[in-house]
Amino acid sequence: MQPPVLFIPGCSGFIGSHLLERILATTGYRVVGMDRSCDKIRHLLANDRLEFVRSDVYSCQTIGTFVKSCDIVISLAALCNPSLYNTIPITVIDNNFTQPRDLVRSCAEQGKRLIHFSTCEVYGRTLSGYLGGKGEEPFREDESPYLLGPIGAQRWTYACAKQLLERLIYAYGREQGLHYTIVRPFNFIGPRMDYIPGIDGDGVPRVVACFMEALLFNRPLRLVDGGRSRRVFTYIDDAVDAVMAMIERPDRADRQVFNIGNPANELTIAELARRMAALYAELAPAGAARTAGIVSISAEEFYGPGYEDSDRRIPDVSKARERLGWIPKTAIDDALRATILAFIHDYASAPCPARAANG
Ligand code: UGA
Repeated sequence: MQPPVLFIPGCSGFIGSHLLERILATTGYRVVGMDRSCDKIRHLLANDRLEFVRSDVYSCQTIGTFVKSCDIVISLAALCNPSLYNTIPITVIDNNFTQPRDLVRSCAEQGKRLIHFSTCEVYGRTLSGYLGGKGEEPFREDESPYLLGPIGAQRWTYACAKQLLERLIYAYGREQGLHYTIVRPFNFIGPRMDYIPGIDGDGVPRVVACFMEALLFNRPLRLVDGGRSRRVFTYIDDAVDAVMAMIERPDRADRQVFNIGNPANELTIAELARRMAALYAELAPAGAARTAGIVSISAEEFYGPGYEDSDRRIPDVSKARERLGWIPKTAIDDALRATILAFIHDYASAPCPARAANG
């Protein structure tokens, strides 16, 4: 039997680069990967089981042809940076709902299996946190309600677009027999995540990259509204284990939504800042780890108007454990250590970039 062919739009992002590495190293699958750039997968391009197509996924007029030629589509392309949700919300909705609709439709029409990356942001805020409590309820894929803020809080454009796409995928499953699996990532971290503003990207990346920029270039780490929000941080290798199980066990993954996150790795953002500063002091080349300290900044000043935060996101991962046999293994300090070392390796000799406009 021929090994399956995977079509991976968005293959050269952080998650895609790690998934591709694993697929090429441990399976005989062929992969057609599509992305605007190949910066994060350059080391894989010589592999003859990878065909790389340089194209913007959602302006590609022939996306249906790629879907037709594969067995499974793994959809990773998205605009998932919180600093954009309230600053370019139309583009955020287009990229995360309007444009990916065609890919979903194409999978349904052509009877192809779709593994779609959504987000833990669909849950929004916790109900108890919203009412002034501690936000202790874990999120369950098939039970939890979704609590987003008002329309003026444009932070939620992304969560709302991603939620609507999930509902569309579900509807295609019910009405037209689409075979799908939906992944809800909970703050994956690891080598090659995001970028450093002014070096290989612009604007404000996610928190770990923001803190790395501060540590590498001796600037203060900034805590939005004091850093009281909580996140669980999930190591990328654990996340890839889960996706491999989804690919290999369609009988267990079909028409299911999975939280993929490590509930044991929860920190407040203030704790994350302190933990990263301490680890950086251990890992940085001698003399490099001077620290400019940790400061607080208002959300309005950091992200502009319309930003609102998720207070806490604890995943219930019992479904992934029971259906896929998946258990996240990497403890927070090991995950941070590997991530910090990779940033040091990639950027320590880069010239000091100018700080972003909001800095
Ligand atoms: C983001 C995306 O919106 C999700 O789609 C995605 O699933 C998630 O990341 C993820 O990585 O899985 P969020 O966790 O809010 O969600 O992203 P970050 O930008 O990393 O922010 C985390 C927290 O750190 C927020 O409370 C933010 O206000 C805070 N932050 C960020 C700081 O305190 N300082 C900074 O310099 C940057």
